[in-house]
Amino acid sequence: MTDLSTTYLGLALRSPLVASAGPVTGNPAMWQRLQAAGAGAIVLPSLFEEEIEQDAFVLGFNEEHGADQFGEALSYLPSIDQPPAGPARHVALVERAREQLDIPVIASLNGTTPGGWVRYAKHLADAGAHAIELNLYDIVVDTSVTAAELEHRYLELVEEVKNEIEIPLAVKLGPWFTAFGNLAVRLQDAGADGLVLFNRLYQPDIDLDTLEVVPTLTLSTSAETRMSLHWIANLFGTVNCSLAASSGVHDGADVLKLLLAGADVVMTTSALLLHGPEHLAVMERSVRQWMVDRDYDSVRELRGSVSRGNVPDPQVYERANYYRIIHSWTNANRR
Ligand SMILES: Cc1cc2nc3c(=O)[nH]c(=O)nc-3n(C[C@H](O)[C@H](O)[C@H](O)COP(=O)(O)O)c2cc1C
Repeated sequence: MTDLSTTYLGLALRSPLVASAGPVTGNPAMWQRLQAAGAGAIVLPSLFEEEIEQDAFVLGFNEEHGADQFGEALSYLPSIDQPPAGPARHVALVERAREQLDIPVIASLNGTTPGGWVRYAKHLADAGAHAIELNLYDIVVDTSVTAAELEHRYLELVEEVKNEIEIPLAVKLGPWFTAFGNLAVRLQDAGADGLVLFNRLYQPDIDLDTLEVVPTLTLSTSAETRMSLHWIANLFGTVNCSLAASSGVHDGADVLKLLLAGADVVMTTSALLLHGPEHLAVMERSVRQWMVDRDYDSVRELRGSVSRGNVPDPQVYERANYYRIIHSWTNANRR
């Protein structure tokens, strides 16, 4: 029997297929289906810095104003160490997922600035999360902020979250950094046990009828795996932390390519929204078949075998690839 087991963030998973944060993992009715379809782990939807800060603001306002007017008001309010209502739902979701699932449950925190909100990492850990995924989704529009300042802030945040918890920490981020490899190493040194590569950038569109800026949500396609593939292949053997591939994973071929590049796990959201949790089983079957056809006994055997350090010409993952590609275009390519 082909062995699909893998290790991610120090956790033993039965399969490298992980359901990433999104509406499917946020729906308890889907959990058993994800597990039955072979998910190695699930990542719950994020608890956002904004949600926590907003709750803390409301709580602070009530405490200040209520306390002056009604002597007993404070005794009715939850203590600051107790998760307030909105974020409490996330904590409850973790508890519920832990009760219902045998596979690891990863809780997600989403934010960009160090601050009091990172205490929620501990609340999520106390609720039973096996690991925390910290999503650093950011759009930096302030032109006075330098890349160095920004990276410093992210590293500080990772250290703060890490200090709150005794469970593993994964950091999910986008690829838009000038020297991504260097940042990856520093994130690991700051305490990241794994990197989730990559976030998708949700770019707004302009409605030509109303001239309004409209948020658009299009699901990914397989073509979007390439950025993750490129960086995972480059980082494999360079960093010691776990590597998770995310974005554009729709079928068994996508999974295999990312494992060959060096991913420990391969995450998917869009494909589950399109086809339902059972699509994990479809992907798994296709991965198994390919491995059987090529006499691979285990994921460990194939993982990273087409990474930058393991290919005869590592330049295929460097600038030379660009040079070759643009010079390989001929009129025969035109349709
Ligand atoms: C509707 C929707 C909700 C999502 N919610 C979250 C979230 O709460 N936290 C998070 O880190 N990523 C979230 N994501 C991003 C996914 O986890 C994933 O990174 C992204 O969709 C790329 O993977 P895919 O190509 O498999 O869809 C969401 C994606 C979608 C489509």
